[in-house]
Amino acid sequence: MQPNAAMMAVVLLGNLMLPLASAQNAGFVKSPLSETKLTGDTFELYCDVVGNPTPEIQWWYAEVNRAESFKQLWDGARKRRVSINTAYGTNGVSVLGITRLTLEDSGTYECRASNDPKRNDLRQNPAMTWIRAQATISVLQKPKINASTEITLSTNSSIIPVILQCSLTTDHTSHRESFWMKNGQEIPNTRTEQRTTVHRIPKPRADDSGEYLCVYTFDKAPNANATTKVNAKPDITGHKRSENKNEGENATLYCKSVGYPHPIWTWRKVDGTSYKDIDNSTGRFFITKRDNYTELNILNLDIDTDPGTYECNATNEIGNTAETTILRVRSHLAPLWPFLGVLAEIIILVVIIVVYEKRKRPDDIIDDDEPVGPMKTNSTNNHKDKNIRQRNTK
Ligand SMILES: *[C@@H]1O[C@H](CO)[C@@H](O)[C@H](O)[C@H]1NC(C)=O
Ligand SMILES: *[C@@H]1O[C@H](CO)[C@@H](O)[C@H](O)[C@H]1NC(C)=O
Ligand SMILES: *[C@@H]1O[C@H](CO)[C@@H](O)[C@H](O)[C@H]1NC(C)=O
Ligand SMILES: *[C@@H]1O[C@H](CO)[C@@H](O)[C@H](O)[C@H]1NC(C)=O
Ligand SMILES: *[C@@H]1O[C@H](CO)[C@@H](O)[C@H](O)[C@H]1NC(C)=O
Ligand SMILES: *[C@@H]1O[C@H](CO)[C@@H](O)[C@H](O)[C@H]1NC(C)=O
Ligand SMILES: *[C@@H]1O[C@H](CO)[C@@H](O)[C@H](O)[C@H]1NC(C)=O
Repeated sequence: MQPNAAMMAVVLLGNLMLPLASAQNAGFVKSPLSETKLTGDTFELYCDVVGNPTPEIQWWYAEVNRAESFKQLWDGARKRRVSINTAYGTNGVSVLGITRLTLEDSGTYECRASNDPKRNDLRQNPAMTWIRAQATISVLQKPKINASTEITLSTNSSIIPVILQCSLTTDHTSHRESFWMKNGQEIPNTRTEQRTTVHRIPKPRADDSGEYLCVYTFDKAPNANATTKVNAKPDITGHKRSENKNEGENATLYCKSVGYPHPIWTWRKVDGTSYKDIDNSTGRFFITKRDNYTELNILNLDIDTDPGTYECNATNEIGNTAETTILRVRSHLAPLWPFLGVLAEIIILVVIIVVYEKRKRPDDIIDDDEPVGPMKTNSTNNHKDKNIRQRNTK
């Protein structure tokens, strides 16, 4: 096979890769893929090569229609917009990234790999010692979308409908349609082919706050979108009113919120009318915070220091709100109380009987002396009493 024919094939096939004769050992596992991008966006190209020894990887670039004049790309090139990250293990893996794309970044990007010991010998034809894989990157002007960037819902509960609007003010190629998204999810029934699209929130609540996106789709270009942030004061929608635990157990208090931006969470202890920071000198308090959720974990509850009222406070740029949870801590002995109560009752009863009997004894003697007729029943009673007395005195 003629090496020149192979070279021609590489150039003609563009995106495809062909191993060249002298580098039998290097081969592509993953080669970069062609893409169309918008100005201001970012792209990444992947190149994954096998070989023994592990092949070296390089990235090269040629401007549109100048495929004969490749130049090598370096990490940090084009005012640090180019990054090259390569790792050599059993495979060689490299990622070429370019950020803040401009129209001039369009062109052909080539991943070259070789494990030929003579690959960097200037007398060798690189086309013989390196394998190559190409991708074409086309950068298009980003369409302009006119939209408001931010809306703040009134803290007043008065109901003023909110209207979100986007309009496409430039389009290089005709658009297909548009739709709305909220917090990363498409809002159903918002697709339209108009250049201007409107999303109405008739009765806005804190729940409606978040990040809204209008997205325009095109036939032969990436989607374009504009973001409108709908801000609202946080509202705590979930928390425990009280938590009852035994000493030595763990307690978990939590708060959930709606409202946007996601709040900054704090926890403190309410001390009458004032507040105290949580005293973590014992290292038993753990706070987790996740966007719209926070948790306060208290391990190994202490009956003296831990009971009380705890407050979670959600604060964002629009406002703040707080809710409280009462933590009660019972003694270890608490589950024994019913049993102790019965025991105490028995003891009291016995004491009463003993005291009663002791007082009664002189009367008994008098009774025995009395020579009155219908005393038979009485005397049997006295026998019983004696029995009890004997038992008790033992
Ligand atoms: C953008 O829209 C606002 C009203 O929604 C309008 O006042 C403004 O003129 C528009 N800007 C452009 C460039 O179209
Ligand atoms: C809030 O609503 C009340 C009536 O419900 C009104 O008097 C007040 O001016 C409103 N405040 C703001 C800031 O809009
Ligand atoms: C919105 O546009 C940005 C920047 O162009 C892009 O990175 C993102 O993927 C787009 N999002 C959607 C949902 O189209
Ligand atoms: C309390 O939490 C700690 C740490 O998560 C755990 O090791 C321990 O077993 C828990 N104690 C109880 C009583 O659940
Ligand atoms: C909290 O945020 C998560 C993801 O960020 C979301 O799935 C969840 O619905 C939100 N919960 C509330 C109450 O807003
Ligand atoms: C409390 O102390 C423990 C141990 O030092 C630490 O891991 C934890 O993050 C602290 N919690 C808070 C809320 O500061
Ligand atoms: C929440 O915390 C902020 C900042 O510390 C404070 O200004 C605000 O008064 C607190 N809100 C409530 C309801 O306690």
